[in-house]
Amino acid sequence: MPLPRALYDGLLAEVYDDYTDADNRDDLVLWHRLCGEGHGVKLELASGTGRILLPLLAEEYPVEGLDNSADMLARCRDRGTEMGLAPVLHEADMTTFTLGRRYGLIFCAAGSLTLLAEPGQMEAALERSREHLEPGGQLALAMDAPAKPATGKVLARDMRRDGDGARLRCILDPLPDANPEVARWRMTNEVVPPDGATRRETADIAFRRPAPHTFADMLRARGFADVTLMDAHGTGPIRAGEEAYLALARAG
Ligand SMILES: C[S@@+](CC[C@H](N)C(=O)[O-])C[C@H]1O[C@@H](n2cnc3c(N)ncnc32)[C@H](O)[C@@H]1O
Repeated sequence: MPLPRALYDGLLAEVYDDYTDADNRDDLVLWHRLCGEGHGVKLELASGTGRILLPLLAEEYPVEGLDNSADMLARCRDRGTEMGLAPVLHEADMTTFTLGRRYGLIFCAAGSLTLLAEPGQMEAALERSREHLEPGGQLALAMDAPAKPATGKVLARDMRRDGDGARLRCILDPLPDANPEVARWRMTNEVVPPDGATRRETADIAFRRPAPHTFADMLRARGFADVTLMDAHGTGPIRAGEEAYLALARAG
Protein backbone atom coordinates (compact mmCIF):
# COMPACT_ATOMS: atom_id res chain seq x y z
CA MET A 1 0.00 0.00 0.00
CA PRO A 2 1.47 3.44 -0.85
CA LEU A 3 2.53 5.57 2.12
CA PRO A 4 0.68 8.84 2.83
CA ARG A 5 2.26 12.07 1.54
CA ALA A 6 5.51 12.52 3.43
CA LEU A 7 6.95 15.67 4.99
CA TYR A 8 9.73 15.92 2.42
CA ASP A 9 7.50 15.35 -0.63
CA GLY A 10 6.79 18.25 -3.00
CA LEU A 11 8.65 21.55 -2.72
CA LEU A 12 11.02 20.42 0.03
CA ALA A 13 12.29 17.55 -2.17
CA GLU A 14 12.73 20.05 -5.03
CA VAL A 15 14.92 22.43 -2.99
CA TYR A 16 16.65 19.92 -0.66
CA ASP A 17 19.83 19.51 -2.72
CA ASP A 18 20.19 23.28 -3.18
CA TYR A 19 19.94 23.71 0.58
CA THR A 20 22.43 20.98 1.45
CA ASP A 21 24.88 21.93 -1.32
CA ALA A 22 24.98 25.37 0.29
CA ASP A 23 25.60 23.80 3.72
CA ASN A 24 28.69 22.00 2.46
CA ARG A 25 28.52 19.42 5.27
CA ASP A 26 31.68 17.42 5.89
CA ASP A 27 30.08 14.28 7.36
CA LEU A 28 30.68 11.94 4.41
CA VAL A 29 34.15 11.08 5.73
CA LEU A 30 32.57 9.65 8.92
CA TRP A 31 30.13 7.38 7.05
CA HIS A 32 32.88 6.36 4.65
CA ARG A 33 35.04 5.26 7.61
CA LEU A 34 32.23 3.38 9.39
CA CYS A 35 31.22 1.57 6.21
CA GLY A 36 34.84 0.51 5.73
CA GLU A 37 35.12 -0.90 9.26
CA GLY A 38 32.20 -3.33 9.38
CA HIS A 39 31.12 -6.39 7.45
CA GLY A 40 27.85 -7.11 5.68
CA VAL A 41 25.37 -4.95 3.83
CA LYS A 42 24.67 -1.50 5.30
CA LEU A 43 21.39 0.40 5.54
CA GLU A 44 21.03 4.19 5.63
CA LEU A 45 17.83 5.31 7.35
CA ALA A 46 16.32 8.53 5.92
CA SER A 47 18.68 8.38 2.93
CA GLY A 48 16.87 11.20 1.11
CA THR A 49 18.27 12.23 -2.27
CA GLY A 50 21.40 10.15 -1.73
CA ARG A 51 23.82 12.85 -0.55
CA ILE A 52 25.62 10.17 1.53
CA LEU A 53 24.34 6.96 -0.06
CA LEU A 54 25.41 7.61 -3.65
CA PRO A 55 29.06 8.52 -2.96
CA LEU A 56 29.31 5.41 -0.73
CA LEU A 57 27.87 3.24 -3.50
CA ALA A 58 30.27 4.83 -5.97
CA GLU A 59 33.05 3.57 -3.64
CA GLU A 60 31.45 0.10 -3.93
CA TYR A 61 30.27 -0.14 -0.33
CA PRO A 62 27.14 -2.34 -0.28
CA VAL A 63 24.67 0.23 1.07
CA GLU A 64 20.88 0.31 0.75
CA GLY A 65 18.67 3.32 1.48
CA LEU A 66 15.34 3.75 3.21
CA ASP A 67 13.12 6.83 3.18
CA ASN A 68 9.39 7.56 3.43
CA SER A 69 9.39 10.32 0.79
CA ALA A 70 8.69 9.05 -2.72
CA ASP A 71 9.88 12.39 -4.12
CA MET A 72 13.23 12.27 -2.28
CA LEU A 73 13.73 8.66 -3.41
CA ALA A 74 12.89 9.56 -7.03
CA ARG A 75 15.57 12.26 -6.94
CA CYS A 76 18.03 9.75 -5.48
CA ARG A 77 17.28 7.30 -8.30
CA ASP A 78 17.72 10.03 -10.94
CA ARG A 79 21.01 11.20 -9.45
CA GLY A 80 22.11 7.56 -9.22
CA THR A 81 21.34 7.02 -12.90
CA GLU A 82 23.44 10.08 -13.77
CA MET A 83 26.33 8.49 -11.83
CA GLY A 84 25.80 5.05 -13.43
CA LEU A 85 24.42 3.61 -10.16
CA ALA A 86 21.19 1.72 -9.41
CA PRO A 87 20.69 2.12 -5.64
CA VAL A 88 18.55 -0.36 -3.71
CA LEU A 89 15.97 1.94 -2.10
CA HIS A 90 13.15 1.05 0.28
CA GLU A 91 10.15 3.37 0.44
CA ALA A 92 9.28 2.83 4.08
CA ASP A 93 8.89 4.58 7.40
CA MET A 94 11.76 4.40 9.91
CA THR A 95 9.30 3.61 12.68
CA THR A 96 7.62 0.61 11.03
CA PHE A 97 9.98 -0.89 8.41
CA THR A 98 10.20 -4.65 7.86
CA LEU A 99 12.68 -5.52 5.12
CA GLY A 100 13.08 -9.27 5.65
CA ARG A 101 16.85 -9.17 6.02
CA ARG A 102 19.60 -8.07 8.43
CA TYR A 103 22.44 -5.59 8.08
CA GLY A 104 25.96 -5.25 9.47
CA LEU A 105 25.57 -1.49 9.94
CA ILE A 106 22.48 0.71 10.15
CA PHE A 107 23.12 4.43 10.20
CA CYS A 108 21.26 7.70 10.06
CA ALA A 109 22.98 10.96 9.07
CA ALA A 110 22.31 14.66 9.55
CA GLY A 111 20.21 14.34 12.71
CA SER A 112 17.34 12.85 10.73
CA LEU A 113 16.32 10.57 13.59
CA THR A 114 15.31 13.69 15.53
CA LEU A 115 12.47 14.14 13.01
CA LEU A 116 10.75 11.32 14.94
CA ALA A 117 9.23 13.72 17.46
CA GLU A 118 5.84 12.16 18.16
CA PRO A 119 5.57 10.01 21.31
CA GLY A 120 7.08 6.56 20.81
CA GLN A 121 8.38 7.17 17.26
CA MET A 122 12.09 7.40 18.13
CA GLU A 123 11.83 4.32 20.34
CA ALA A 124 10.04 2.42 17.54
CA ALA A 125 12.80 3.28 15.03
CA LEU A 126 15.45 1.97 17.46
CA GLU A 127 13.49 -1.26 17.89
CA ARG A 128 13.06 -1.72 14.13
CA SER A 129 16.81 -1.07 13.70
CA ARG A 130 17.79 -3.63 16.34
CA GLU A 131 15.53 -6.22 14.66
CA HIS A 132 17.31 -5.57 11.35
CA LEU A 133 20.89 -5.78 12.66
CA GLU A 134 23.00 -8.92 12.53
CA PRO A 135 24.13 -10.06 15.99
CA GLY A 136 26.93 -7.65 16.95
CA GLY A 137 25.94 -5.33 14.09
CA GLN A 138 26.46 -1.62 14.58
CA LEU A 139 23.99 1.22 14.87
CA ALA A 140 25.42 4.71 14.17
CA LEU A 141 23.23 7.77 14.60
CA ALA A 142 24.20 11.38 13.98
CA MET A 143 22.11 13.28 16.50
CA ASP A 144 21.44 16.97 17.10
CA ALA A 145 21.90 18.06 20.71
CA PRO A 146 19.18 19.93 22.62
CA ALA A 147 18.78 23.51 21.40
CA LYS A 148 17.65 26.69 23.15
CA PRO A 149 13.86 27.21 22.96
CA ALA A 150 12.74 29.30 19.98
CA THR A 151 11.79 32.90 20.67
CA GLY A 152 10.28 33.85 17.31
CA LYS A 153 10.12 33.39 13.56
CA VAL A 154 13.35 32.18 11.88
CA LEU A 155 14.39 32.72 8.27
CA ALA A 156 16.16 29.37 8.04
CA ARG A 157 17.05 29.68 4.34
CA ASP A 158 17.24 32.54 1.88
CA MET A 159 19.32 31.85 -1.22
CA ARG A 160 19.42 32.03 -5.01
CA ARG A 161 19.18 28.79 -6.97
CA ASP A 162 21.90 28.23 -9.58
CA GLY A 163 20.44 27.79 -13.04
CA ASP A 164 17.13 29.64 -12.97
CA GLY A 165 18.06 32.24 -10.31
CA ALA A 166 14.92 31.50 -8.29
CA ARG A 167 14.92 32.76 -4.70
CA LEU A 168 14.49 29.89 -2.21
CA ARG A 169 13.23 30.69 1.26
CA CYS A 170 12.39 28.55 4.29
CA ILE A 171 10.57 30.29 7.11
CA LEU A 172 10.04 28.62 10.49
CA ASP A 173 7.39 29.82 12.95
CA PRO A 174 7.57 28.26 16.43
CA LEU A 175 4.63 26.24 17.71
CA PRO A 176 4.10 25.20 21.32
CA ASP A 177 4.87 21.68 22.51
CA ALA A 178 4.41 20.19 25.96
CA ASN A 179 7.56 18.06 25.68
CA PRO A 180 10.68 20.13 26.48
CA GLU A 181 12.73 17.79 24.25
CA VAL A 182 10.62 18.79 21.21
CA ALA A 183 10.99 21.90 19.02
CA ARG A 184 7.90 22.22 16.81
CA TRP A 185 7.61 24.60 13.88
CA ARG A 186 5.25 25.65 11.12
CA MET A 187 7.55 25.49 8.08
CA THR A 188 6.93 27.40 4.86
CA ASN A 189 9.10 26.73 1.82
CA GLU A 190 8.94 29.18 -1.09
CA VAL A 191 10.29 29.17 -4.61
CA VAL A 192 10.21 32.69 -6.10
CA PRO A 193 11.24 32.65 -9.78
CA PRO A 194 12.74 35.88 -11.24
CA ASP A 195 9.64 36.11 -13.43
CA GLY A 196 6.59 34.02 -12.70
CA ALA A 197 4.39 32.99 -9.83
CA THR A 198 5.68 32.15 -6.35
CA ARG A 199 5.15 28.55 -5.26
CA ARG A 200 4.72 28.00 -1.55
CA GLU A 201 4.09 24.96 0.69
CA THR A 202 3.48 24.89 4.43
CA ALA A 203 3.75 21.91 6.77
CA ASP A 204 4.45 21.32 10.44
CA ILE A 205 7.85 19.89 11.35
CA ALA A 206 9.14 18.87 14.76
CA PHE A 207 12.49 17.76 16.14
CA ARG A 208 13.00 15.71 19.28
CA ARG A 209 16.46 16.28 20.70
CA PRO A 210 17.00 14.20 23.83
CA ALA A 211 20.03 15.00 25.97
CA PRO A 212 22.85 12.61 25.00
CA HIS A 213 22.76 10.61 28.27
CA THR A 214 18.94 10.26 27.95
CA PHE A 215 19.38 8.99 24.42
CA ALA A 216 22.05 6.53 25.56
CA ASP A 217 19.58 5.19 28.17
CA MET A 218 16.92 4.88 25.44
CA LEU A 219 19.32 2.74 23.38
CA ARG A 220 20.16 0.49 26.34
CA ALA A 221 16.46 0.12 27.19
CA ARG A 222 15.90 -1.13 23.62
CA GLY A 223 18.50 -3.90 24.06
CA PHE A 224 21.58 -2.23 22.56
CA ALA A 225 25.01 -2.87 24.07
CA ASP A 226 28.33 -0.98 23.96
CA VAL A 227 26.56 2.38 23.78
CA THR A 228 29.16 5.08 23.06
CA LEU A 229 28.66 8.82 22.67
CA MET A 230 31.21 10.63 20.52
CA ASP A 231 31.74 14.04 18.97
CA ALA A 232 29.87 14.63 15.71
CA HIS A 233 32.82 13.47 13.58
CA GLY A 234 33.27 10.28 15.60
CA THR A 235 36.90 11.11 16.28
CA GLY A 236 36.78 11.62 20.07
CA PRO A 237 34.55 11.61 23.13
CA ILE A 238 31.40 13.73 23.15
CA ARG A 239 32.04 17.33 24.23
CA ALA A 240 29.63 19.41 26.31
CA GLY A 241 28.00 22.33 24.52
CA GLU A 242 28.38 21.00 20.95
CA GLU A 243 25.40 21.15 18.60
CA ALA A 244 25.62 17.56 17.43
CA TYR A 245 26.96 14.20 18.52
CA LEU A 246 27.34 10.63 17.29
CA ALA A 247 25.71 7.71 19.12
CA LEU A 248 27.15 4.24 18.46
CA ALA A 249 25.71 0.97 19.78
CA ARG A 250 25.77 -2.73 19.00
CA ALA A 251 22.94 -5.21 18.65
CA GLY A 252 23.34 -7.85 21.37
C1 LIG B 1 17.45 16.02 6.51
S1 LIG B 1 16.95 14.81 5.30
C2 LIG B 1 18.42 13.80 5.28
C3 LIG B 1 18.66 13.12 3.95
C4 LIG B 1 20.05 12.51 3.80
N1 LIG B 1 20.30 11.45 4.79
C5 LIG B 1 21.12 13.56 3.93
O1 LIG B 1 21.88 13.52 4.90
O2 LIG B 1 21.16 14.45 3.07
C6 LIG B 1 15.79 13.88 6.22
C7 LIG B 1 15.19 12.71 5.47
O3 LIG B 1 14.42 11.95 6.42
C8 LIG B 1 13.31 11.42 5.74
N2 LIG B 1 12.32 11.05 6.75
C9 LIG B 1 11.67 11.86 7.61
N3 LIG B 1 10.85 11.16 8.40
C10 LIG B 1 10.98 9.85 8.02
C11 LIG B 1 10.40 8.64 8.46
N4 LIG B 1 9.51 8.63 9.45
N5 LIG B 1 10.76 7.49 7.86
C12 LIG B 1 11.68 7.50 6.85
N6 LIG B 1 12.26 8.62 6.38
C13 LIG B 1 11.92 9.78 6.97
C14 LIG B 1 12.89 12.54 4.82
O4 LIG B 1 12.03 12.12 3.80
C15 LIG B 1 14.23 13.07 4.36
O5 LIG B 1 14.62 12.45 3.16
